[in-house]
Amino acid sequence: MADEDSILGVNGEDKLRGDKYFNDTGLWGFIHRSFTKSMGYTDDDLKKPVIGICNTFSELNKCHSHFRELTDYVKRGVWQAGGLPMEFPTISIGEPYVKPTTMLLRNLMAMDTEEMVKAHPIDGVVLLGGCDKTVPAQLMAAVSANIPAIVLTGGPMLNGKLNGQTLGACTDCYQFTLEHKAGNISDEQLTVAENAICRSDGHCMVMGTASTMAAIAEALGMALPGCAAIPAPDSRRRHMSEQTGKQIVELVRRNIRPRDIITKESLDNAIRVTMACAGSTNAIIHLVAIAGRLGYRLPLERFDEISATTPFILNVRPSGKYQMEEFFEAGGVPSLMKEIEPLLNGNCLTVTGQTVTENLRGVRVTDRELIYPLEQPIAPQGGIAVLRGNLSPNGALIKQTAVSAHLKKHRGRAVVFESPADLNARIDDPDLDVDENSVLVLKNAGPKGAPAMPEIGQIPIPKKLLMQGVRDMVRISDARISGTSYGTLIVHVAPEAAIGGPLGLVQNGDEIELDIDMRKLELHVDEETLRERKAKWEAPPPAYDRGYGLLFLERVLQADEGCDFDFLLPPELRK
Ligand code: FES
Ligand code: MG
Repeated sequence: MADEDSILGVNGEDKLRGDKYFNDTGLWGFIHRSFTKSMGYTDDDLKKPVIGICNTFSELNKCHSHFRELTDYVKRGVWQAGGLPMEFPTISIGEPYVKPTTMLLRNLMAMDTEEMVKAHPIDGVVLLGGCDKTVPAQLMAAVSANIPAIVLTGGPMLNGKLNGQTLGACTDCYQFTLEHKAGNISDEQLTVAENAICRSDGHCMVMGTASTMAAIAEALGMALPGCAAIPAPDSRRRHMSEQTGKQIVELVRRNIRPRDIITKESLDNAIRVTMACAGSTNAIIHLVAIAGRLGYRLPLERFDEISATTPFILNVRPSGKYQMEEFFEAGGVPSLMKEIEPLLNGNCLTVTGQTVTENLRGVRVTDRELIYPLEQPIAPQGGIAVLRGNLSPNGALIKQTAVSAHLKKHRGRAVVFESPADLNARIDDPDLDVDENSVLVLKNAGPKGAPAMPEIGQIPIPKKLLMQGVRDMVRISDARISGTSYGTLIVHVAPEAAIGGPLGLVQNGDEIELDIDMRKLELHVDEETLRERKAKWEAPPPAYDRGYGLLFLERVLQADEGCDFDFLLPPELRK
C-alpha cells in the first residue's frame, strides 16, 4: 500500500522491522533472540509481526485507570491474529493534575511516542489514549513515525447520577462550584455531588476534548468504527480492544500506514464530524498540529468553511442535552457519520482496510432525539466560528453553539486583567469596575505567555455579578478552554499578547465589538493610539530559564499553527 521506505523495509526488501532484529545471523541477532526468549517467548513467537501496545496506564491519569485491563484484551486479539504483542509505556497526561497545564506536555508525549515506536522492533502499534492531550499526541506521533497504527480510546465514563438527574464531567463541575460560590448549595451537598459525578473508569462523558478527539480518531479512519462512544466499563469496549488487536496485525500484513489514512481529505472528514458534534475548540489546535506533521498547513479558514456548511446535529452536552452514554446507544460516531455522509469524502481509507463509504454501508440512524436529521438540524452551522479583526489578525475561536443568544452581537468596554495571576487576585474584588455589559479581557495566557496556553479562557464571572444573577458575559483571551465549557468565550486569540499581539495592547475602558454572524472581533481604538501603546509595550518575563520549559518557550508555534514545536514539522513547513 505505502511506498516502501527505510523504516519498514530492510535494504529495500519487503521485510518486517522485527525480522531485522530476530533473523539477524550475527551477534545482535543472538542477543535480541536470547534476551527476548528470557521473557518466555519462543522461537515461533519471534517469527510473528511485533505489535507494540502503547499502554498509557497511569495512576496519575484517572481517565486511563482501566488500561491494564484493556491491554490484556488487545493482546488476546494480537495473539489470535498471529502477532506478537509487546507492551510498552510512554508518558501519560491526565487533565486534572498536570500543572501548569497539560498543553505543556502534549508535544513531549508526541515525541516520546514517535521515538519509542521508531527505536524498537515494532511492526505495528496500538495506541491506547483517552484523556484530552493523549490522542492528539499519539496521532501526531503516528503521522511522523508512519508505522502501521490504530488508536484505541479508553471510552467515556458512565453518566453521573444524583437525585434522578444526569451529571456530566466536567460541565457540571463548573455548575456545582459556581452555585456553591454563590451560596446556593452547601459544603455537604458539594461533597455528595463530587461522589456522584464521576462513578466509573473512563474520560469525561460530555462532548469535551477527550470525546471530540475520540470521535476525530474514528472520523480520520485511525480507530475502528464505533470505538469512540462505548463507555469505558462496558463489555463491548473489551470486545473492541480485542478486535483492535486483531486488526493491527492485518494492517501490518497489508502494510497500511498512517499516511495512507490521514490525508487532507480525511482531515476534512474529521473537521466535519467535529462541527456536527459541536466538538471542543481544542480539536482545532490538535488537527492543525496533526496536519502539520504531514507537511500540510491547515488554515483556520478551512474550519470556518466546513463549519458554515456542516449543520450541528448531535444532541450531546455541552451544546446539546444528552451525554456519550446515550450517544453510544444511538449508534455512536458511525451513525453520526451516516447522517452527514453526503458531506464526507467517502473514498478515504481507514484502519478497517476499507473506505469510509464501505464502513458506512448498512449503518442506520435510529435515534432522532440524539442525531438530528441533516435537513432539520439543531443549528444550521457547526459549533465553532473563526473570528478576525484588529484584535485577532491571525484568528480567534468561539464555540457559537455554547454562547448566550443576547451576546452574539455585543459591544462593551474592556475590563482588563494583565495575567492569570492578576485575574485571580482581582476578579472577585467588590470594587472591580465591571457590569454585565463589560467585556472581560485576559492577557498573557497564550502558548508562550501563561505558559503553554492553559484552559483558563472560561474567565469566572465576578462574584458581585454572580450574586446579581449574571451567568454569562463576553470574555476574551489567548488561552484555551476545556471542551466542556460553555458561555460567550473568545479564545485562542492569535498572535498572543506575550509576543506583542494586539490583545496585549488593550486597556481598561476600550470599546470591543463582537459580531459572531459577521465573524468579527474589533478593538475600537484608532491605529495611532495602538502604535503608541505598542512602542511602550514590554514582553512579560519568561516563565522558564532552563529545561523542557525553556525548549517549549523557544520552539512552540502559535495557536493558529497548532502549538507544535517548529522542529517537529517536516522541513518544507519550517519557516
Ligand atoms: Fe481526562 Fe476530562 S479529565 S477527559
Ligand atoms: Mg478537558
